[in-house]
Amino acid sequence: MCGTDGYQQYILLQPRTFAAVKKRGVIFSLLCVAVCAWYGFGVPDKNSLPAKKVPINKEQLGEHLFFDKILSADRSISCASCHIPEYGFADTMPTSTGVGGKKGVRNTPTCANMSDRPYLFYDGRAGSLEDQVHFPIEDGNEMALPMKEAIKRLRASKQYVQWFAKVFGSQPTEKNVSEAIAAYERTLETSNTPFDRYMAGNETAMTEAEKRGRELFMSDKAKCFDCHFSPDFTGDEFRNIGLYDSVRLTDEGRYKITHNAADLGKFKVPGLRNVGVTAPYMHNGMFATLREVIEYYDNPYKVVTNPLNIDTLLQKPLGLTEQEKDDLEAFLHTLTDDRFRKK
Ligand code: HEC
Ligand code: HEC
Repeated sequence: MCGTDGYQQYILLQPRTFAAVKKRGVIFSLLCVAVCAWYGFGVPDKNSLPAKKVPINKEQLGEHLFFDKILSADRSISCASCHIPEYGFADTMPTSTGVGGKKGVRNTPTCANMSDRPYLFYDGRAGSLEDQVHFPIEDGNEMALPMKEAIKRLRASKQYVQWFAKVFGSQPTEKNVSEAIAAYERTLETSNTPFDRYMAGNETAMTEAEKRGRELFMSDKAKCFDCHFSPDFTGDEFRNIGLYDSVRLTDEGRYKITHNAADLGKFKVPGLRNVGVTAPYMHNGMFATLREVIEYYDNPYKVVTNPLNIDTLLQKPLGLTEQEKDDLEAFLHTLTDDRFRKK
Protein backbone atom coordinates (compact mmCIF):
# COMPACT_ATOMS: atom_id res chain seq x y z
CA MET A 1 0.00 0.00 0.00
CA CYS A 2 1.12 3.46 -0.58
CA GLY A 3 -0.93 6.41 0.44
CA THR A 4 -0.10 9.74 1.96
CA ASP A 5 1.00 8.47 5.35
CA GLY A 6 2.79 10.53 7.97
CA TYR A 7 6.21 9.49 6.80
CA GLN A 8 5.68 10.85 3.29
CA GLN A 9 4.27 14.10 4.61
CA TYR A 10 7.26 14.45 6.89
CA ILE A 11 9.72 13.93 4.10
CA LEU A 12 8.49 16.29 1.48
CA LEU A 13 6.16 18.77 3.05
CA GLN A 14 8.55 20.16 5.65
CA PRO A 15 11.67 21.40 3.93
CA ARG A 16 13.83 21.84 7.00
CA THR A 17 13.26 18.44 8.59
CA PHE A 18 14.04 16.83 5.26
CA ALA A 19 17.66 17.80 5.73
CA ALA A 20 17.93 15.56 8.80
CA VAL A 21 16.48 12.60 6.94
CA LYS A 22 18.93 12.94 4.10
CA LYS A 23 21.83 13.50 6.49
CA ARG A 24 23.06 10.03 5.84
CA GLY A 25 23.07 10.84 2.15
CA VAL A 26 25.15 13.90 2.86
CA ILE A 27 27.67 11.88 4.83
CA PHE A 28 27.91 9.50 1.89
CA SER A 29 28.37 12.43 -0.48
CA LEU A 30 31.15 13.84 1.65
CA LEU A 31 32.80 10.46 1.62
CA CYS A 32 32.33 10.40 -2.12
CA VAL A 33 33.73 13.88 -2.52
CA ALA A 34 36.77 12.70 -0.59
CA VAL A 35 37.14 9.61 -2.75
CA CYS A 36 36.53 11.65 -5.89
CA ALA A 37 38.98 14.37 -4.93
CA TRP A 38 41.50 11.63 -4.38
CA TYR A 39 41.05 10.15 -7.82
CA GLY A 40 39.88 13.23 -9.67
CA PHE A 41 36.18 12.90 -10.42
CA GLY A 42 34.87 12.14 -13.86
CA VAL A 43 36.52 9.33 -15.73
CA PRO A 44 37.10 10.56 -19.28
CA ASP A 45 37.01 7.15 -20.93
CA LYS A 46 33.88 5.46 -19.68
CA ASN A 47 35.63 2.09 -19.59
CA SER A 48 38.93 3.07 -18.14
CA LEU A 49 40.29 2.32 -14.73
CA PRO A 50 40.97 5.41 -12.61
CA ALA A 51 44.63 6.21 -12.07
CA LYS A 52 46.22 3.29 -10.29
CA LYS A 53 46.48 4.48 -6.74
CA VAL A 54 46.88 1.81 -4.15
CA PRO A 55 43.48 1.26 -2.54
CA ILE A 56 43.50 1.73 1.19
CA ASN A 57 39.95 0.65 1.94
CA LYS A 58 37.04 -1.45 0.63
CA GLU A 59 35.48 1.51 -1.16
CA GLN A 60 38.60 2.26 -3.17
CA LEU A 61 39.23 -1.39 -3.96
CA GLY A 62 35.60 -1.65 -5.07
CA GLU A 63 36.07 1.36 -7.31
CA HIS A 64 38.98 -0.33 -9.07
CA LEU A 65 36.90 -3.46 -9.60
CA PHE A 66 33.93 -1.41 -10.85
CA PHE A 67 36.07 0.15 -13.59
CA ASP A 68 38.12 -2.96 -14.44
CA LYS A 69 37.32 -5.01 -17.54
CA ILE A 70 38.99 -8.03 -15.91
CA LEU A 71 35.54 -9.06 -14.65
CA SER A 72 34.15 -9.74 -18.16
CA ALA A 73 34.72 -12.93 -20.16
CA ASP A 74 36.67 -11.30 -23.02
CA ARG A 75 37.99 -8.42 -20.89
CA SER A 76 36.05 -5.94 -23.00
CA ILE A 77 33.68 -4.33 -20.52
CA SER A 78 33.46 -3.25 -16.91
CA CYS A 79 30.53 -2.29 -14.69
CA ALA A 80 31.22 1.30 -15.77
CA SER A 81 30.71 0.43 -19.45
CA CYS A 82 26.97 0.34 -18.73
CA HIS A 83 26.84 2.37 -15.51
CA ILE A 84 28.59 5.39 -16.99
CA PRO A 85 29.61 7.96 -14.35
CA GLU A 86 28.88 11.06 -16.45
CA TYR A 87 25.31 9.89 -17.14
CA GLY A 88 24.46 9.47 -13.49
CA PHE A 89 25.86 5.91 -13.57
CA ALA A 90 23.29 4.81 -16.16
CA ASP A 91 23.53 4.14 -19.91
CA THR A 92 22.34 6.26 -22.82
CA MET A 93 20.95 3.32 -24.83
CA PRO A 94 17.51 1.70 -24.45
CA THR A 95 19.33 -1.56 -23.64
CA SER A 96 23.06 -2.03 -23.15
CA THR A 97 25.55 -4.14 -25.04
CA GLY A 98 27.42 -6.87 -23.20
CA VAL A 99 30.38 -9.05 -24.24
CA GLY A 100 30.34 -10.24 -27.86
CA GLY A 101 27.91 -7.46 -28.82
CA LYS A 102 25.02 -9.19 -27.03
CA LYS A 103 22.05 -7.00 -26.23
CA GLY A 104 20.48 -7.10 -22.77
CA VAL A 105 16.73 -7.15 -22.31
CA ARG A 106 16.38 -4.24 -19.87
CA ASN A 107 17.47 -0.64 -19.68
CA THR A 108 20.50 0.04 -17.48
CA PRO A 109 19.32 1.97 -14.42
CA THR A 110 21.58 4.13 -12.32
CA CYS A 111 23.50 2.35 -9.57
CA ALA A 112 23.77 5.54 -7.48
CA ASN A 113 21.57 6.18 -4.42
CA MET A 114 21.24 2.44 -3.83
CA SER A 115 22.32 2.41 -0.15
CA ASP A 116 18.78 2.35 1.19
CA ARG A 117 17.24 0.02 -1.41
CA PRO A 118 15.83 -3.24 -0.01
CA TYR A 119 15.42 -4.66 -3.54
CA LEU A 120 17.61 -4.37 -6.59
CA PHE A 121 16.79 -4.85 -10.27
CA TYR A 122 13.46 -4.01 -11.87
CA ASP A 123 12.04 -7.31 -10.64
CA GLY A 124 13.70 -7.12 -7.21
CA ARG A 125 15.61 -10.38 -7.62
CA ALA A 126 18.53 -9.24 -5.42
CA GLY A 127 18.05 -8.20 -1.81
CA SER A 128 21.27 -6.27 -1.20
CA LEU A 129 24.14 -4.68 -3.10
CA GLU A 130 26.36 -7.57 -2.05
CA ASP A 131 23.86 -10.13 -3.44
CA GLN A 132 23.57 -8.12 -6.62
CA VAL A 133 27.21 -8.19 -7.74
CA HIS A 134 27.41 -11.70 -9.20
CA PHE A 135 24.38 -11.21 -11.50
CA PRO A 136 25.98 -8.87 -14.07
CA ILE A 137 29.32 -10.68 -13.89
CA GLU A 138 27.69 -14.05 -14.70
CA ASP A 139 24.89 -12.81 -17.01
CA GLY A 140 25.45 -14.12 -20.56
CA ASN A 141 24.24 -10.80 -22.02
CA GLU A 142 26.48 -8.73 -19.78
CA MET A 143 29.92 -9.79 -18.55
CA ALA A 144 29.46 -13.56 -19.06
CA LEU A 145 32.11 -14.70 -16.59
CA PRO A 146 31.40 -17.40 -13.99
CA MET A 147 32.27 -16.04 -10.51
CA LYS A 148 34.73 -18.91 -9.94
CA GLU A 149 36.60 -17.81 -13.05
CA ALA A 150 36.50 -14.16 -11.95
CA ILE A 151 38.05 -15.06 -8.61
CA LYS A 152 40.71 -17.18 -10.33
CA ARG A 153 41.65 -14.20 -12.49
CA LEU A 154 41.94 -11.87 -9.54
CA ARG A 155 44.05 -14.41 -7.67
CA ALA A 156 46.35 -14.59 -10.68
CA SER A 157 46.86 -10.82 -10.58
CA LYS A 158 49.81 -9.84 -8.41
CA GLN A 159 48.34 -6.39 -7.95
CA TYR A 160 44.91 -7.55 -6.80
CA VAL A 161 46.41 -10.18 -4.51
CA GLN A 162 48.41 -7.42 -2.81
CA TRP A 163 45.45 -5.08 -2.62
CA PHE A 164 43.06 -7.69 -1.18
CA ALA A 165 45.69 -8.70 1.37
CA LYS A 166 46.02 -5.08 2.43
CA VAL A 167 42.29 -4.31 2.60
CA PHE A 168 40.78 -7.65 3.66
CA GLY A 169 43.78 -9.56 4.97
CA SER A 170 42.94 -12.40 2.60
CA GLN A 171 42.91 -13.52 -1.02
CA PRO A 172 40.11 -12.37 -3.32
CA THR A 173 36.94 -14.38 -2.66
CA GLU A 174 33.43 -14.10 -4.03
CA LYS A 175 32.38 -12.60 -0.70
CA ASN A 176 35.02 -9.88 -0.41
CA VAL A 177 34.80 -8.93 -4.10
CA SER A 178 31.05 -8.38 -3.62
CA GLU A 179 31.69 -6.52 -0.38
CA ALA A 180 34.21 -4.17 -2.01
CA ILE A 181 32.02 -3.34 -5.02
CA ALA A 182 28.98 -2.82 -2.78
CA ALA A 183 31.04 -0.53 -0.51
CA TYR A 184 32.03 1.57 -3.53
CA GLU A 185 28.42 1.77 -4.71
CA ARG A 186 27.40 3.04 -1.26
CA THR A 187 29.64 6.07 -1.80
CA LEU A 188 27.48 7.06 -4.78
CA GLU A 189 24.82 8.89 -2.76
CA THR A 190 23.92 12.27 -4.23
CA SER A 191 22.28 15.21 -2.49
CA ASN A 192 23.93 18.35 -3.88
CA THR A 193 20.90 19.43 -5.85
CA PRO A 194 18.72 22.54 -6.15
CA PHE A 195 15.94 20.44 -4.59
CA ASP A 196 18.01 19.58 -1.51
CA ARG A 197 19.16 23.18 -1.10
CA TYR A 198 15.54 24.30 -1.29
CA MET A 199 14.52 21.66 1.26
CA ALA A 200 17.31 22.87 3.54
CA GLY A 201 15.69 26.30 3.59
CA ASN A 202 17.18 28.16 0.62
CA GLU A 203 14.05 29.65 -0.97
CA THR A 204 15.91 30.81 -4.07
CA ALA A 205 17.45 27.44 -4.90
CA MET A 206 14.42 26.56 -7.04
CA THR A 207 12.65 28.71 -9.64
CA GLU A 208 8.92 29.44 -9.49
CA ALA A 209 8.26 26.89 -12.26
CA GLU A 210 10.25 24.24 -10.37
CA LYS A 211 8.35 24.99 -7.15
CA ARG A 212 5.02 24.67 -8.99
CA GLY A 213 6.30 21.39 -10.43
CA ARG A 214 7.12 20.13 -6.95
CA GLU A 215 3.64 20.99 -5.67
CA LEU A 216 2.08 19.24 -8.65
CA PHE A 217 4.33 16.20 -8.18
CA MET A 218 2.86 15.79 -4.69
CA SER A 219 -0.71 16.65 -5.67
CA ASP A 220 -3.74 14.41 -6.14
CA LYS A 221 -3.82 15.57 -9.73
CA ALA A 222 -0.44 14.18 -10.85
CA LYS A 223 -0.12 11.49 -8.12
CA CYS A 224 3.61 11.01 -8.71
CA PHE A 225 4.34 11.18 -4.98
CA ASP A 226 1.97 8.29 -4.24
CA CYS A 227 4.64 5.99 -5.69
CA HIS A 228 7.79 8.14 -5.84
CA PHE A 229 8.18 9.14 -2.18
CA SER A 230 11.00 9.04 0.44
CA PRO A 231 14.23 11.10 0.14
CA ASP A 232 15.18 9.18 -3.00
CA PHE A 233 11.67 9.33 -4.53
CA THR A 234 10.83 5.66 -4.34
CA GLY A 235 8.80 3.69 -1.85
CA ASP A 236 10.72 0.57 -2.97
CA GLU A 237 7.47 -1.06 -4.00
CA PHE A 238 6.53 -2.92 -7.15
CA ARG A 239 3.83 -1.20 -9.22
CA ASN A 240 2.33 -1.55 -12.66
CA ILE A 241 2.16 1.69 -14.64
CA GLY A 242 0.72 -0.01 -17.74
CA LEU A 243 3.82 -1.09 -19.62
CA TYR A 244 2.71 -4.71 -19.94
CA ASP A 245 0.12 -5.93 -22.44
CA SER A 246 1.48 -9.47 -23.09
CA VAL A 247 1.52 -8.75 -26.84
CA ARG A 248 3.94 -5.96 -27.63
CA LEU A 249 5.16 -5.37 -24.08
CA THR A 250 5.95 -8.80 -22.71
CA ASP A 251 8.31 -8.28 -19.75
CA GLU A 252 6.37 -9.69 -16.79
CA GLY A 253 8.50 -7.86 -14.23
CA ARG A 254 8.05 -8.88 -10.59
CA TYR A 255 5.88 -11.85 -11.63
CA LYS A 256 9.03 -13.58 -12.94
CA ILE A 257 10.25 -13.85 -9.35
CA THR A 258 7.02 -14.40 -7.39
CA HIS A 259 4.79 -16.20 -9.96
CA ASN A 260 1.92 -14.39 -8.32
CA ALA A 261 -0.62 -13.21 -10.93
CA ALA A 262 -1.12 -9.94 -9.03
CA ASP A 263 2.53 -9.07 -9.83
CA LEU A 264 2.19 -9.29 -13.62
CA GLY A 265 3.69 -6.17 -15.19
CA LYS A 266 4.84 -4.71 -11.88
CA PHE A 267 8.31 -3.18 -11.75
CA LYS A 268 10.33 -1.72 -8.93
CA VAL A 269 9.50 1.97 -8.59
CA PRO A 270 12.82 3.59 -9.47
CA GLY A 271 14.21 6.48 -7.45
CA LEU A 272 14.22 9.75 -9.37
CA ARG A 273 17.46 11.37 -8.28
CA ASN A 274 19.54 12.40 -11.34
CA VAL A 275 16.73 11.30 -13.66
CA GLY A 276 17.52 14.37 -15.81
CA VAL A 277 20.74 12.69 -16.99
CA THR A 278 19.74 9.02 -17.14
CA ALA A 279 17.64 8.90 -20.34
CA PRO A 280 16.19 6.76 -21.85
CA TYR A 281 13.57 5.66 -19.33
CA MET A 282 11.62 2.66 -18.01
CA HIS A 283 12.60 -1.02 -17.75
CA ASN A 284 12.79 -1.26 -21.54
CA GLY A 285 14.14 2.22 -22.25
CA MET A 286 11.09 3.01 -24.39
CA PHE A 287 10.88 6.73 -23.60
CA ALA A 288 13.71 8.91 -24.86
CA THR A 289 12.94 12.05 -22.84
CA LEU A 290 11.34 13.12 -19.57
CA ARG A 291 8.69 14.89 -21.60
CA GLU A 292 7.69 11.55 -23.17
CA VAL A 293 7.47 10.05 -19.68
CA ILE A 294 5.19 12.87 -18.53
CA GLU A 295 3.04 12.59 -21.68
CA TYR A 296 2.74 8.87 -20.98
CA TYR A 297 1.54 9.38 -17.39
CA ASP A 298 -0.88 12.03 -18.62
CA ASN A 299 -2.61 9.42 -20.75
CA PRO A 300 -1.10 5.90 -20.78
CA TYR A 301 -3.75 4.63 -23.19
CA LYS A 302 -2.38 6.76 -26.04
CA VAL A 303 0.75 4.60 -25.90
CA VAL A 304 -0.57 1.23 -24.68
CA THR A 305 -4.14 0.47 -25.76
CA ASN A 306 -4.75 -2.51 -23.52
CA PRO A 307 -2.46 -2.41 -20.49
CA LEU A 308 -2.94 -5.45 -18.24
CA ASN A 309 -3.20 -5.05 -14.48
CA ILE A 310 -2.51 -1.28 -14.58
CA ASP A 311 -2.42 0.45 -11.18
CA THR A 312 -5.73 1.97 -10.05
CA LEU A 313 -3.97 5.35 -9.67
CA LEU A 314 -3.40 5.49 -13.41
CA GLN A 315 -6.69 4.15 -14.73
CA LYS A 316 -7.93 7.61 -15.74
CA PRO A 317 -5.97 10.18 -17.78
CA LEU A 318 -4.54 12.90 -15.51
CA GLY A 319 -5.58 15.84 -17.71
CA LEU A 320 -2.39 17.89 -17.22
CA THR A 321 -2.11 21.26 -19.00
CA GLU A 322 0.96 22.07 -21.11
CA GLN A 323 2.09 24.48 -18.38
CA GLU A 324 1.79 21.72 -15.79
CA LYS A 325 3.82 19.33 -17.93
CA ASP A 326 6.55 22.00 -18.27
CA ASP A 327 6.55 22.56 -14.51
CA LEU A 328 6.79 18.85 -13.70
CA GLU A 329 9.68 18.47 -16.12
CA ALA A 330 11.44 21.47 -14.58
CA PHE A 331 11.00 19.96 -11.13
CA LEU A 332 12.49 16.59 -12.18
CA HIS A 333 15.62 18.44 -13.33
CA THR A 334 16.12 19.89 -9.84
CA LEU A 335 17.01 16.37 -8.67
CA THR A 336 20.26 16.34 -10.68
CA ASP A 337 23.36 16.43 -8.51
CA ASP A 338 25.85 19.25 -9.26
CA ARG A 339 28.50 16.77 -10.33
CA PHE A 340 26.37 15.61 -13.28
CA ARG A 341 25.36 19.07 -14.48
CA LYS A 342 26.88 20.14 -17.76
CA LYS A 343 29.18 23.04 -17.04
C1 HEC B 1 26.06 -4.87 -20.08
C2 HEC B 1 25.59 -3.80 -19.21
C3 HEC B 1 25.79 -3.91 -17.72
C4 HEC B 1 26.95 -4.19 -17.03
C5 HEC B 1 28.32 -4.53 -17.61
C6 HEC B 1 26.63 -4.09 -15.64
N1 HEC B 1 25.32 -3.75 -15.47
FE1 HEC B 1 24.38 -3.32 -13.72
N2 HEC B 1 22.62 -3.28 -14.66
C7 HEC B 1 22.44 -3.42 -16.02
C8 HEC B 1 21.03 -3.59 -16.32
C9 HEC B 1 20.42 -3.79 -17.70
C10 HEC B 1 20.36 -3.59 -15.08
C11 HEC B 1 18.86 -3.80 -14.83
C12 HEC B 1 18.59 -5.28 -14.94
C13 HEC B 1 17.25 -5.70 -14.41
O1 HEC B 1 16.60 -4.93 -13.71
O2 HEC B 1 16.86 -6.86 -14.64
C14 HEC B 1 21.40 -3.36 -14.06
C15 HEC B 1 21.14 -3.21 -12.70
C16 HEC B 1 22.10 -2.94 -11.75
C17 HEC B 1 21.85 -2.58 -10.38
C18 HEC B 1 20.48 -2.45 -9.72
C19 HEC B 1 19.90 -1.08 -9.89
C20 HEC B 1 18.46 -1.00 -9.41
O3 HEC B 1 17.82 0.02 -9.64
O4 HEC B 1 17.94 -1.96 -8.83
C21 HEC B 1 23.08 -2.40 -9.77
C22 HEC B 1 23.32 -2.00 -8.33
C23 HEC B 1 24.08 -2.69 -10.76
N3 HEC B 1 23.47 -3.00 -11.96
C24 HEC B 1 25.44 -2.71 -10.52
C25 HEC B 1 26.36 -3.28 -11.42
C26 HEC B 1 27.71 -3.68 -11.08
C27 HEC B 1 28.33 -3.58 -9.71
C28 HEC B 1 28.27 -4.17 -12.23
C29 HEC B 1 29.65 -4.77 -12.40
C30 HEC B 1 29.97 -5.91 -11.57
C31 HEC B 1 27.29 -4.04 -13.28
N4 HEC B 1 26.14 -3.53 -12.76
C32 HEC B 1 27.52 -4.34 -14.61
C33 HEC B 1 23.44 -3.38 -16.99
C34 HEC B 1 24.77 -3.66 -16.71
C1 HEC C 1 1.46 3.73 -9.59
C2 HEC C 1 2.80 4.15 -9.19
C3 HEC C 1 3.44 5.28 -9.98
C4 HEC C 1 2.97 6.56 -10.18
C5 HEC C 1 1.64 7.13 -9.77
C6 HEC C 1 4.01 7.27 -10.89
N1 HEC C 1 5.08 6.44 -11.11
FE1 HEC C 1 6.76 6.93 -12.11
N2 HEC C 1 7.34 4.96 -12.09
C7 HEC C 1 6.65 3.93 -11.45
C8 HEC C 1 7.24 2.66 -11.85
C9 HEC C 1 6.80 1.29 -11.37
C10 HEC C 1 8.26 2.97 -12.77
C11 HEC C 1 9.13 1.96 -13.52
C12 HEC C 1 8.30 1.37 -14.65
C13 HEC C 1 9.09 0.59 -15.67
O1 HEC C 1 10.31 0.62 -15.66
O2 HEC C 1 8.48 -0.05 -16.51
C14 HEC C 1 8.30 4.43 -12.89
C15 HEC C 1 9.21 5.13 -13.68
C16 HEC C 1 9.29 6.51 -13.73
C17 HEC C 1 10.32 7.25 -14.42
C18 HEC C 1 11.49 6.63 -15.18
C19 HEC C 1 12.68 6.46 -14.30
C20 HEC C 1 13.81 5.75 -14.98
O3 HEC C 1 14.93 5.87 -14.46
O4 HEC C 1 13.62 5.07 -16.01
C21 HEC C 1 10.08 8.58 -14.23
C22 HEC C 1 10.88 9.74 -14.75
C23 HEC C 1 8.86 8.67 -13.45
N3 HEC C 1 8.42 7.40 -13.16
C24 HEC C 1 8.26 9.87 -13.07
C25 HEC C 1 6.95 9.92 -12.59
C26 HEC C 1 6.15 11.13 -12.56
C27 HEC C 1 6.63 12.49 -13.00
C28 HEC C 1 4.92 10.77 -12.07
C29 HEC C 1 3.70 11.63 -11.92
C30 HEC C 1 3.17 12.23 -13.13
C31 HEC C 1 4.98 9.33 -11.80
N4 HEC C 1 6.22 8.87 -12.12
C32 HEC C 1 3.93 8.60 -11.29
C33 HEC C 1 5.58 4.10 -10.60
C34 HEC C 1 4.76 5.21 -10.58
